[in-house]
Amino acid sequence: MRMYDIIMKKRNGEELTTQEINFFVEGYTKGEIPDYQVSALMMAIYFQKMNKRETADLTKAMVDSGEIIDLSAIEGIKVDKHSTGGVGDTTTLILGPIVAAAGVPVAKMSGRGLGHTGGTIDKLESFDGFSVEMPIEKFMQNVNEKKIAIGGQTANLAPADKKLYALRDVTATVDNMSLIAGSIMSKKIASGADAIVLDVKTGSGAFMKDENSSFELAQEMVDIGTHVGRNTVGVITDMDQPLGFAVGNALEVKEAIDTLRGEGPADLTELCLTLGSHMLVLGEKAKNAEEAREILEDIIKSGKGIAKLKELVEAQGGNPTYVDDTSLFPIPSIVEPVVAAEDGYVKGIKADDIGIAALVLGAGRETKESDIDLAVGIVLHKKIGDFVKKGETIATIYANDAKKQKTSEEMIIKAYDIVEEEIKAKPLIKGIVTKDGITKF
Ligand code: URA
Ligand code: CA
Repeated sequence: MRMYDIIMKKRNGEELTTQEINFFVEGYTKGEIPDYQVSALMMAIYFQKMNKRETADLTKAMVDSGEIIDLSAIEGIKVDKHSTGGVGDTTTLILGPIVAAAGVPVAKMSGRGLGHTGGTIDKLESFDGFSVEMPIEKFMQNVNEKKIAIGGQTANLAPADKKLYALRDVTATVDNMSLIAGSIMSKKIASGADAIVLDVKTGSGAFMKDENSSFELAQEMVDIGTHVGRNTVGVITDMDQPLGFAVGNALEVKEAIDTLRGEGPADLTELCLTLGSHMLVLGEKAKNAEEAREILEDIIKSGKGIAKLKELVEAQGGNPTYVDDTSLFPIPSIVEPVVAAEDGYVKGIKADDIGIAALVLGAGRETKESDIDLAVGIVLHKKIGDFVKKGETIATIYANDAKKQKTSEEMIIKAYDIVEEEIKAKPLIKGIVTKDGITKF
């Protein structure tokens, strides 16, 4: 088999065989096929596209390029959740406890990575003493006994995707549905999930700016899941503004605690109940999404969700009294308001720019080596549809450096789109894609 022939075949719009797909993925991972040939193939795929079978084969080949985590020692159906981008991943801190409290095993292995804020692990480290270091046996035991554990990611998952994604990133070949869907699903499948709930963001702050392509991406990922025997559901959700109010590490943990107490932001609460409902259905703890939602609402109301968070924190060496006394979380030296420069209605809040404004404060890592400041971040007070008066506080900055606070303030003001005409708040959940079809709301 020759790489040249595979490139030409795809350039001419033909379908690649399973063997051809395995050949280039294996060859590229091993360093036997050069970047320039794979770049050419990615561009050919970009223009000629891949069908469902080719997409599933590419995904499988990328899964098989590295380790596959074996979660079989854990009882029950392991349901994982994935969000396509967005600012902060506060949802995991809420979904983990409520879903675990409903009996669905949550075996989360997270990385730290780069981002506007830290990852789930960094955030949980706001609890003094919290650690993800434990032998794999202990991790499995915790999930079996408590239904939840958060471990550090050490396995080498889908290395072919890592290499291909980096190459696509510099050759203008990222935005092809098959390649994106395969890339995301390969990592989820390799991490050992039996079933997957996808939060596919749509809007200005999302990877997919328009709704139709978001539905298309969700469909593509559900098809891959179905093809490889992983029950998959995609929920399409709005990202024309950041989710919730808080962007930062300790700030998001506090917001998660509020939400677990039933006092969180409406959009964040709604998203967690929706995603969680589908996780319960896939985990066979509820017959349908409506029944699942009632179970989750009861878990929040009865305090079982917040109790589960405490149990998780305590099991991993953290101080659980922080949950009841949030003043114990790290606090920065500067707390300053951002005020509106004009009267009007909030039309949009660029989520990426708010994320960068938090990154500037030190909430996230710019390089792998950077330290995270757990205390800093941003809390928004105004969201889409809200009316603001000139001089009114639209956000609060939590900082440890006055210069960074100023830079962040300018970015936040720019991120807000304030207009004269009245703006209505938009629904958060746009639709659901399952193996049985699409429902649009
Ligand atoms: N996220 C991924 O993990 N892969 C893509 O290709 C695009 C977004
Ligand atoms: Ca958030």
